[in-house]
Amino acid sequence: MTYDFDSVVNRRGSESLKWDVAEHELPMWVADMDFPTAPCIRQALEKRVSHGIYGYSILPPEWAKSYVTWWDQRHGLKMQEEELVFVTGVVPAISSAVRKFTTPGEKVAVITPVYNIFFNSIVNNGRVPVQCVLKYDGSSYSLDFEELERVLSDPQVSLLILCNPQNPVGRIWTREELARMGELARKHGVLVFSDEIHCDLTDPGKEYVPFAAASEENRMHSITAMAPTKCFNIAGIQTAAVYAADPVLRHRIWRQINTDEVGEGNVFAADAAIAAFTQGGTWLDELRAYIYENKQFAYRFFMEKLPKVHALRQDCTYLMWLDVSAYLKEGETSKGLAQRIREKTGLFLSHGRQYRGDGESFLRLNVACPRKTLEEGLRRLVQGLEEE
Ligand SMILES: Cc1ncc(COP(=O)(O)O)c(C=O)c1O
Repeated sequence: MTYDFDSVVNRRGSESLKWDVAEHELPMWVADMDFPTAPCIRQALEKRVSHGIYGYSILPPEWAKSYVTWWDQRHGLKMQEEELVFVTGVVPAISSAVRKFTTPGEKVAVITPVYNIFFNSIVNNGRVPVQCVLKYDGSSYSLDFEELERVLSDPQVSLLILCNPQNPVGRIWTREELARMGELARKHGVLVFSDEIHCDLTDPGKEYVPFAAASEENRMHSITAMAPTKCFNIAGIQTAAVYAADPVLRHRIWRQINTDEVGEGNVFAADAAIAAFTQGGTWLDELRAYIYENKQFAYRFFMEKLPKVHALRQDCTYLMWLDVSAYLKEGETSKGLAQRIREKTGLFLSHGRQYRGDGESFLRLNVACPRKTLEEGLRRLVQGLEEE
């Protein structure tokens, strides 16, 4: 490996949301990695810092070009530069879409368990989330299309927020599944907003399919959110894009993003995205390999030391979804269990309840950290679950 993912960087005292915990605590919750970003991004930012003037900035043509080339070469999606709109984050884009494409009191569909902030974007805007709950057979998740159609056919539903790939269950949706989701959405007059922020975090050799690449109809009847932030660990820079091939949809989301004043980036936003998508490929591929090895390490660990925890086999993301139903005491929630582990061992995990669906029996473990940190986290998990 060219890059060092093994060294532990002390993040305490750096105003990190993840690491704002007590001295003895070990945070393995929010989707934020404990690795320094790619050196090419750091260099681009250092260049900007050393300039010394941080006035209002504009987007250079390289910004859209870098997204277009990356998605074409890595993911087989052909976009035009003018089809991309800058936005400060994926969540701001989702909230803008909710405000633009639905009215208060209407329902917004989600496939659960799913990223909890989707519910904030819906509920905080006075809309009502409606779930299509994924089917869990004790080892993996599948989408029941009859159930999806039942949800989408409600005339009060006009928007589906999709997570592709799905956080937290770690599913890469297939081309056929995405095409079928799109068909059902169109049949019932539902617009699809596809959040693809985790798309570059697939296991080595595994490919994600952009919703818009699954069929020409999907491309013309959807909005996609993309960003370098999750995969290059630069969430604090706040830089993202929405893609809409249809000019009317694009105009409408652009209008709302600007009304919401989330359409202008800070002075680092374009530099970071351009560096990531033009020079970050090798770093990203090594990161994916490292995360893959971390997941294999954790799977082996669970088999040997915690066989009652069922760690789902996932081929994307660094967020492991752990079925801990065997450890839930009578009447205990996953939130209660996560709290019990935290109090006893200092290990801070995400509880599954917040992702809804069947999340109540699960905990989410972030393994995007040096192996040494992962080993310590797993040791604490054994202590939290098994030792009195
Ligand atoms: C599915 C998903 N979408 C969006 C975000 C956050 O996006 P942003 O920081 O660009 O608002 C996250 C962060 O974990 C996420 O998991």
